Amino acid sequence: MIDQFITDVVEGLSKEQKTLPSKYFYDEKGDQLFVNIMNMPEYYLTNCEMEIFSDQSSALAQLIGHETSFDLIELGAGDGTKTVHLLRALQQSYDFTYKPIDISPFAIEGLLQKLSVELPELKTEGVAGDYFSALAKFKKINRPISILFMGSNIGNLTDDKAKKFIGDLSQSMKPGDKLLIGVDLKKDPSIILPAYNDAQGITRDFNMNLLDRINRELDADFNLEQFKHAPVYDEQMGEARSYLVSKSNQSVAIGKANKTFHFEEGERIHTETSRKYNAKLIRELTSDHGLTIFKQLTDSRGYFSDFILEKQNT
Ligand code: AVJ
Repeated sequence: MIDQFITDVVEGLSKEQKTLPSKYFYDEKGDQLFVNIMNMPEYYLTNCEMEIFSDQSSALAQLIGHETSFDLIELGAGDGTKTVHLLRALQQSYDFTYKPIDISPFAIEGLLQKLSVELPELKTEGVAGDYFSALAKFKKINRPISILFMGSNIGNLTDDKAKKFIGDLSQSMKPGDKLLIGVDLKKDPSIILPAYNDAQGITRDFNMNLLDRINRELDADFNLEQFKHAPVYDEQMGEARSYLVSKSNQSVAIGKANKTFHFEEGERIHTETSRKYNAKLIRELTSDHGLTIFKQLTDSRGYFSDFILEKQNT
């Protein structure tokens, strides 16, 4: 784990355009900061998907449900606040087992505990681990599945990687199985940018925590005062990107890597890309994998969509 972290940091900071992988945001402090992000007024993504799940829950249940007993698998389930609306609607007419997968065993434990109180009748089977080993396990079970991948989590992947990821998911699906992907839509920059540059500076702290984590875990000496949070929204590409910009010419030593990196004044480290989508793009990412869009549900402001895809007969 730590060796991989060292390798990834050294590799990223050795590039011409310096970069750090966004997956390292999520240590204990980063998890908490992300919860705070989801609660801030500028971060409309969570509210929009919440609105879809609460106001369109019966439509959603019909799209996600199967005639016979099935498994509802959620990738990166978190605390399940949005999903609970769908679960409640599904319980009215369907027989299913809810199988949340999350890398964090604490998230799974907390979620199942919460659900046992809120929906005591619900059948659950939580899995702590990575998505694909969990999915491989479910593939052996011969009953229909529906997979949920919400929150625009796919947006951190480049299109090539997203396409491969969806291909891998599709491999675990049988004809008639369903996949829900929640994505943030392309829209006016004046709405998107504040979501990554909030007034309270929570997103700045979230971004900066990456340097702080490298200091703590890799024995580095980043001076956080000497970097600033600088997000942009590239409307042409349809992506929000976060950067940390060096405020001066400086060198930073990373003890555990036995290396020193130099930063020019104004030089940027790219820390995250948050892709924005439309239906055409989702079709391009999914159609080669035998998946067809059969419904797009959108919130009332038209900011966010949940696409429901179905695996075709091959
Ligand atoms: C969890 C990847 C969906 O890109 O919007 C929020 C992460 N980064 N604010 C996103 C994030 C900065 C978030 N995702």
